[in-house]
Amino acid sequence: MDPQVLVLGANGQLGRALRDFFPHAHFMARQDCDLADLGAVQNLDLSDVDVLINAAAFTAVDAAESSEGAALAKLINGEAVKILASKAAEAEVVFVHVSTDYVFDGASRKPYTEQDQFAPLGVYAQTKAAGDLAVSNVPRHYILRTSWVIGDGNNFVRTMASLADRGIEPAVVDDQIGRLTFTQDLAQAIQHLLQTKAPFGTYNFSNEGPASSWADIARQVYALRGHNPELVTGVSTEEYYSGKLGIAPRPLWSMLDLSKIEATGFTPPSWEVRLREYLDA
Ligand SMILES: NC(=O)c1ccc[n+]([C@@H]2O[C@H](COP(=O)([O-])OP(=O)(O)OC[C@H]3O[C@@H](n4cnc5c(N)ncnc54)[C@H](OP(=O)(O)O)[C@@H]3O)[C@@H](O)[C@H]2O)c1
Repeated sequence: MDPQVLVLGANGQLGRALRDFFPHAHFMARQDCDLADLGAVQNLDLSDVDVLINAAAFTAVDAAESSEGAALAKLINGEAVKILASKAAEAEVVFVHVSTDYVFDGASRKPYTEQDQFAPLGVYAQTKAAGDLAVSNVPRHYILRTSWVIGDGNNFVRTMASLADRGIEPAVVDDQIGRLTFTQDLAQAIQHLLQTKAPFGTYNFSNEGPASSWADIARQVYALRGHNPELVTGVSTEEYYSGKLGIAPRPLWSMLDLSKIEATGFTPPSWEVRLREYLDA
């Protein structure tokens, strides 16, 4: 019999991609279980669930810097995840959770491994780190630590494609370095870990491909849309956010070492290949 899978965050970028890989799963959106309502989280029925996948999160990194946003981010990314972790442990459910490169400060210059120490810079990052710590105590857990997620939803690639098509000449940050993660590959990686019964624990996950800045990626988007990539000007993070209030600090280095997940037999495709396909679709 197929395991009973429950997915939280059904309508997010990752949640939508999971539908293709877990067609028989039960999907819950915010209206079915609001993670900001800790009573509702406590009452979530896991009695028939074998695998719980949490694709929900408070992901508005700048909004999390306001007092109202910080309170919500702490509830959704921290407190609710702690409750889910303790319920999953008690019910012996496999808990799949999604983490972020933002748990690191980006001061490294070599790709982060799963063993590297957390040093979250902003509120969103701190709340995600708190969630990770709780999930890491669940005996049967997978944490997929990912970066720069692109799927069906609002994201950087869509914004750049729209700017390109409107002939806008944007200034884009050129000192944050990382790799894109396409949700179809992240969802497939989750399926792979579960199906192959890979050892429980944390796995970094992004697409393969060259380390690039947001400006490099924007230029590729412009070129793939048939526009001159030189319309994109590179600026430093400091310059880009200068004079703007309520901006979360961002890690300048988001490269994740993929050798652990690759050793399980899953090599993600290059983000450059996926970017082309995404813009063609
Ligand atoms: N996006 C990135 O660049 C990025 C980078 C690294 C890691 N991650 C992590 O990857 C995971 C998936 O991200 P994503 O890009 O798919 O995020 P997303 O598109 O923003 O989706 C997040 C989902 O969480 C749901 N949600 C928010 N608050 C909720 C609440 N109170 N109760 C229930 N559901 C709630 C949202 O519901 P609504 O649809 O109702 O708003 C949304 O469907 C998250 O854990 C995120 O931290 C993301």
